[in-house]
Amino acid sequence: MTEAPSKPTSGSFPTTRAEGCPFDPAVGYTELREKDPIARVECPAGIDAWLVTRYDDVRTVLSSPGLSSAVPVMGHANSEVDLTQAGTPGSIIQSDGEAHSRLRRLLTSEFTVKRIQALRPYIQQLIDDHIDAMLASDEPADLVRDFALPIPSLVICELLGVAYEDRDQFQRQSAILTSVDVAPEVSAQANGEIQQFVAQLVVSKMQAPTDDLISRLITRANESGQPLSVQELVVLALSLLVAGHETTANMIALSTVALLRNPDQLEELRANPDLVPSAVEEMLRYLSVVQFGLFRAITEDIPLGDETLRAGEWLVTSLASGNRDTSVFPDADSLDLKRKASAHLAFGYGAHQCLGQQLARVELQQVFSTLFTRIPTLRLAVPFEDLKFKDNTLVYGVRSLPVAWDART
Ligand code: HEM
Repeated sequence: MTEAPSKPTSGSFPTTRAEGCPFDPAVGYTELREKDPIARVECPAGIDAWLVTRYDDVRTVLSSPGLSSAVPVMGHANSEVDLTQAGTPGSIIQSDGEAHSRLRRLLTSEFTVKRIQALRPYIQQLIDDHIDAMLASDEPADLVRDFALPIPSLVICELLGVAYEDRDQFQRQSAILTSVDVAPEVSAQANGEIQQFVAQLVVSKMQAPTDDLISRLITRANESGQPLSVQELVVLALSLLVAGHETTANMIALSTVALLRNPDQLEELRANPDLVPSAVEEMLRYLSVVQFGLFRAITEDIPLGDETLRAGEWLVTSLASGNRDTSVFPDADSLDLKRKASAHLAFGYGAHQCLGQQLARVELQQVFSTLFTRIPTLRLAVPFEDLKFKDNTLVYGVRSLPVAWDART
């Protein structure tokens, strides 16, 4: 890092939400946006970093050259992370420059609007099946375990071409991987098993390609003259699981809680189903589940406002804070499903902007067109105050969501 920092630190990186306000970002962002929008802060990992909190600055800086994503994703917010580790080799999220562009080019045509729209009927069927199973079971159900987690995981199975008979195993392992409550050795074992499982899947697609993402990636890379190795394909497939599973699952469950806590908004949604697409954008903005990001290493000087972010320093751009910037989203701390919020930052910005955003949108749209219509009396089965939120994880959400409904539903 540079010997003389550009500016002294003015405080700590905000990580704590206000008591009783689980939907608002950590305390401190409003003041930073007003008084010190390009701040230097001390991070839990023991480093100092630039913290950019205003919407326009977040977009400007994330589209600048001179940033590297080859860093541990939550290195700033987690004291356990070793910042000398450059991130997972071959991971699209943690790669830069040509290596990143190559992976992105190979994957882009898998996430076109047309391809994702074609998944809509499958996604709807999954939602209906899981609602049927919940309604047939004894109350209370856990909406996280029984609905929010399995749906995105099964969508990824469909995308990757996991055989139907293997989907239970895949889901069991990925549920352990994404759980915050399992012992590190259990998680490490699930990680090993899923790596092995995906490696076998890749080898089987190499031998007998079918109509799925992995098979098409193999063909596309071969045709480009730069074939992908089994290991590269495993890392890519697992990046999709890691990036697409927990994010979407947490959005499903947390949005459900937010709607139940804002009954007037839920009523609007029920009365006007055409509101679903804009409601989904607003919930993405309001909840900003990628709660501590994004973290980057600065590799070339970047002028921003009155400051120069220098090569060798660290940067955090707060998506959650940018999404609450009142100069772009008036009354930003309120959930307003009629708001035009689609320019939000929940999917990031710039070269690494979420590749799976159309898929996430379709999943969320189908869920919120269906859930409260099929279960109109859906309600929390425990007091709101008893819900436990994921305060320390990369992706924010609710740990479990006990729900009940009237038997006639
Ligand atoms: C990247 C958020 C769903 C695949 C990102 C980034 C964010 C994000 C903030 C930027 C990371 C960075 O710049 O460092 C979300 C949210 C989701 C979601 C909030 C759900 C509500 C998905 C889904 C998939 C997916 C469903 C695919 C199955 C990816 C990939 C990247 C990415 C591959 C890396 C792109 C790159 O590095 O070029 N996502 N995501 N995401 N997301 Fe998503």
